[in-house]
Amino acid sequence: MNSGTGMHNRILALQEEALRALAGASTPQEIEQIRILYLGRRGNLTELLRAVKALPADERPAIGRTANEVKETLIRELEVHQERIREAERQKRLAAESLDISLPGRRPRRGHYHPLTLITREIVSVFRGMGFEVVEGPEIDRDFYNFEALNMPRDHPARDMQDTFYLSEDVVLRTHTSNVQIHTMMARRPPLRVIAPGTVYRCDSDTTHSPMFHQVEGFLVDRDVSFAELKGILTAFVHALFSPDVPLRFRPSYFPFTEPSAEVDIGCFLCRRKGCRVCSQTGWLEILGSGMIHPEVFRMVGYEPGAYTGFAFGLGIERIAMLKYGADDIRLFFENDVRFLQQF
Ligand code: FA5
Repeated sequence: MNSGTGMHNRILALQEEALRALAGASTPQEIEQIRILYLGRRGNLTELLRAVKALPADERPAIGRTANEVKETLIRELEVHQERIREAERQKRLAAESLDISLPGRRPRRGHYHPLTLITREIVSVFRGMGFEVVEGPEIDRDFYNFEALNMPRDHPARDMQDTFYLSEDVVLRTHTSNVQIHTMMARRPPLRVIAPGTVYRCDSDTTHSPMFHQVEGFLVDRDVSFAELKGILTAFVHALFSPDVPLRFRPSYFPFTEPSAEVDIGCFLCRRKGCRVCSQTGWLEILGSGMIHPEVFRMVGYEPGAYTGFAFGLGIERIAMLKYGADDIRLFFENDVRFLQQF
């Protein structure tokens, strides 16, 4: 059987047998077994290739060529069938996933602005329309800008009205946006017509007070500005923001940095001034503090005495939002409950 022809036939028979086995394989493991059986170190074809060396020299080249061709064919076919099985497995996996491409997609839910952002923008836009520019100031500030330059020296009792978060003896989280008045006036000279929205902090918390809340500061400084202009601007603002038939009341008040000072109330539009829970049965709702800028403030920022007059005001954005949207608890704005937020 070790004659050249016998060997030749055995090689071809092996090839046929191997190809048949490959065609019947259905897992990668089976393919691997076939590879080992024919091409492994002790595989059938490997053994035959070794036997070729024992043939007479004149028969060796022809048989050797056949044997090598068969080996290459097997290597190629192993790869072909391996790929066939991988593809079949992929198809099976896809079918199992039952992908329905006709199903509608899931749309990401669209967000929108927070109600406080909406109100702030509305307020700013009304003042912009009256020629005010927007300026921002620091939320962490020196005692000097938040209190002292606003005519509230250390130990002044008015500081008690604004329960303060101190970061150090000299550095505070600003308790109001009035610090922007000082920063702006120290850097620039009148005429100034500024609106300054921002976040402020006080150690304070209940249904109408939050430790972090927002104010809009406004101030106008020029020569010969009078209280009449304060009234005119604030009346125009309230009418634009709420409605032209909302009545206003300027109630005498006190702030160390304005003189005279006034708090502005608007007629309660929920009860039409008959008295209700929201206005504490008074028929009026307080929305802001205001007044003519105190001469001491002008002195602190370095303006020459008597050269300028001006007015300032500060309003609480949450309060305005609560009134406008009829929300009865300030904390609703900060709890991030989408059932509340998506109503705006
Ligand atoms: C001030 O903060 C003054 N800086 C306002 C001012 C500016 C007066 C310029 C004169 C000239 P007051 O402490 O009253 O004032 O606060 C102003 C508004 O902020 C209040 O009317 C209220 O609407 C709001 N506010 C005060 N504390 C809180 C709080 N804890 N939570 C929510 N809103 C608050």
